Amino acid sequence: MYITDVKVEELRIGAMIAQPVLKDKQKFISENTRVDKNILKRLQQLGIDSVSIRTKYPPKNLKEANSNDSHNKSPINKSKAETIRQQLRFREIRKKIEGKEVSSSKIKPVLGDTLREEAVENIRQLFTEIETSENIQNNTITAHKVISKSDEIVKQLEMAITADPEGHVHIYDLKQYDEYTFHHSLSVALLSIVTGKQCGLDYWDIMKLGQCAFLHDIGKQKIPIEIINKKGKLTDEEFKIVQQHPVHGASILENTILSDDVRNGVKYHHEKLSGRGYPEGISGKDIPLFSRIISVADVFDALTSYRPYRDPMTPHKACEIIISEINTSFDYDVVTNFVAKLELYPVNAIVELADERIGIVVDNNNKLNPIVELLETGERLDLHKVKDQLEIMQVIYPNDIESI
Ligand SMILES: [Fe+2]
Repeated sequence: MYITDVKVEELRIGAMIAQPVLKDKQKFISENTRVDKNILKRLQQLGIDSVSIRTKYPPKNLKEANSNDSHNKSPINKSKAETIRQQLRFREIRKKIEGKEVSSSKIKPVLGDTLREEAVENIRQLFTEIETSENIQNNTITAHKVISKSDEIVKQLEMAITADPEGHVHIYDLKQYDEYTFHHSLSVALLSIVTGKQCGLDYWDIMKLGQCAFLHDIGKQKIPIEIINKKGKLTDEEFKIVQQHPVHGASILENTILSDDVRNGVKYHHEKLSGRGYPEGISGKDIPLFSRIISVADVFDALTSYRPYRDPMTPHKACEIIISEINTSFDYDVVTNFVAKLELYPVNAIVELADERIGIVVDNNNKLNPIVELLETGERLDLHKVKDQLEIMQVIYPNDIESI
């Protein structure tokens, strides 16, 4: 996460204020306030020129200065976005000349924007609640608030998923957002619920699994922020401290109305099938099912997310890694059910290939290596046939092209 200054007139709804807004030494807007219409109006009324916001990608000047540093690379730059927009227009014209229809069906995420925004707002409150209370188990009001909030979100997720039983969760449901922790919790909950349903869990277990997934990292609130945000490699000492977060998480939830299943699910979400995980090094089916499901969702979402110290991994690479760790890190049945419900490259997704050509997915029967139509020439490439020479380098989200 980066902090960058933006002019108030360029400020977008939804941005997160990174530093308090002061005028005449008086604080008017606190840090971590999300910009909405009222905040925008307030800033204009106060005559504030610019504010600091949190951003997923490095600030522009830094990005240009470090253009050779892949860690600081935005997924696409201005000219690439323009090229893609142009190629999409050419493709439409080409199709018209050929008398072919261009499928205009938009990729529809499982979670609508409103549900996601509401859910993330709830997570933010939930995390703040936990951060500011020493022991939620000694504070029934806080414990009740935390649990009822997460319960509400899980119910909403379950409803959204059940509304389309044949549907898949796809990468567009998971990415394109800032504020890693909040969206990560939501994405892990979504992926876990979908996987749990595919594993055949009943409604009540899904509710518990959802809460567990949602709260899996709350113990991180008790780890010093400098360690959580450290960009370089952790020292052994620091790593030991981080490894305690599942234990902190379970103890935060102790003596609440949440069942043992939820607490244990949180406690063991970093265990590995081989017994080489933490905190206890338990193995195989001794690891609770909830933890086995959450660990797959957690790793997949973490690998495919942009982090300050590395670029996001493509969904198929992340999947290949997870599959290659079946029986060492992950449970075979869980991974099979996870992969079955995940659509890595939905039809109509725009992707950039390793040779920088841009394509649009036209057939995804092969999940990891779909068939793409190159935007420039209309040529179809079966990535399964050329998978050793060419692969998808990144997924380009509509926001990436539109917002530049
Ligand atoms: Fe974790």
